Amino acid sequence: MSETKTDTKKLYIKTYGCQMNVYDSERMAEALGGSGYTEVSSPEEADMILLNTCHIREKAAEKVYSELGRYKDLKDAKPGLKIGVAGCVAQAEGEEIMRRQPMVDLVVGPQSYHKLPQLEAKAGLGVKALDTDFPEEDKFEHLKSRPKARRAPAAFLTVQEGCDKFCAFCVVPYTRGAEVSRPVTRVLSEARDLVERGVREITLLGQNVNAYHGAAEGGTWGLARLIRALAEVEGLERIRFTTSHPNDMEDDLIAAHGDCGKLMPYLHLPVQSGSDRILKAMNRKHRAEDYLRLIGRIRAARPDIALSGDFIVGFPGESDQDFEDTMALVREVGYASAFSFKYSPRPGTPAAEKGDRMVDPEVASERLHRLQALITEQQRAFQDAMVGREVSVLFEKPGRMPGQMVGKSDYLHAVHVTGAEVAVGDIRRVRIIGSGPNSLGGEIVG
Ligand code: SAH
Ligand code: SF4
Ligand code: F3S
Repeated sequence: MSETKTDTKKLYIKTYGCQMNVYDSERMAEALGGSGYTEVSSPEEADMILLNTCHIREKAAEKVYSELGRYKDLKDAKPGLKIGVAGCVAQAEGEEIMRRQPMVDLVVGPQSYHKLPQLEAKAGLGVKALDTDFPEEDKFEHLKSRPKARRAPAAFLTVQEGCDKFCAFCVVPYTRGAEVSRPVTRVLSEARDLVERGVREITLLGQNVNAYHGAAEGGTWGLARLIRALAEVEGLERIRFTTSHPNDMEDDLIAAHGDCGKLMPYLHLPVQSGSDRILKAMNRKHRAEDYLRLIGRIRAARPDIALSGDFIVGFPGESDQDFEDTMALVREVGYASAFSFKYSPRPGTPAAEKGDRMVDPEVASERLHRLQALITEQQRAFQDAMVGREVSVLFEKPGRMPGQMVGKSDYLHAVHVTGAEVAVGDIRRVRIIGSGPNSLGGEIVG
């Protein structure tokens, strides 16, 4: 028996945080493919471990240090093992990471990923490598892709990055930098490339994706125009986008929800609070009433749209009445799903620096609990109302039960069918016949 010896190195990436990190991790794996790395699914096998981190709340950031602690034994056993930290914690705490965890070889911020191969080479020579610059160029253009591997049917595509909104609680403007949009032609060619590799649904990503203003011949395009151009790409069947800011929800984008068949009826539109006093303190630059009016206009364009949001409870100064205003807003909107968080003071943000009195943690927990119960109830009602309806489902993978396939409906519900002839990548009409806690059951009708 002969053994083929290859000099491929093994890369393990662990991803935290938002969808943009998921996309970035894919691109980093591709870029390091050029340096001889293939991805593996456990840290024990790896020659390089890369943590793609999130700084949004204290808990998220602290996870990084506890995860690094776990790699100490691996590093002792395999001194050649390289450990890298990427993402928003790398950006925010770069040098501190190196100080707190001397075993870290490489720190790279979100705007420097195109330099990863050089940084990896430097780390390979035993020199600590750190890059948290905000360069001008489009990093994705400099991130080389590997030969065209087949892809899963649903993919992310970053079109916009960074944020100029400076909500008082949020680290993103500091970790991701100012708003930058990728040029239209690059987005379109990446979308076509994804479709050639088997992708049928693309979720356009941006921290403020609807603030997109990408350079195009003869001027800049907004997100709606980009979506309409993507809808012309043959083989691309579904388009989604996230995350949007209420103040950037322009008329054409609202209209697209009504007249662009490939744009899915789902919108994540965070409002954070239902109290005007708190919205002002958060520097959101909109009132609850503005948001509700906007929701009305979106629903007029697409009455069945599934709405989602983000909420923060326990922002400094939040009174019982402020919280009741949030509950009232949630009741008025009726969400298909929503995310809610307890306020976490983040170093360097205006809300944390101002040092206003924090809400009693027990009160904040109780509020979070009540809000989550209301959201769960709404989520459940929206799901139950699907029973008996026909939806389209993009099948993504086999389910846990034999003969089962799982996909996503237009409204982003997980839907499973059993015993039907469906393949990964198929889009089929499905009648919903049951509603469970986290998914729907259905049968193929077309
Ligand atoms: N527009 C961004 C928002 C990112 S943060 C995007 O790309 O999705 C996601 C959510 O985290 C925010 O909408 C907010 O609800 C929550 N969040 C942000 N900073 C927070 C903090 N300091 N404490 C608690 N929740 C926070
Ligand atoms: Fe953060 Fe606000 Fe920007 Fe969203 S809009 S990323 S919450 S600063
Ligand atoms: Fe977290 Fe950075 Fe995303 S802080 S939510 S990984 S933009």
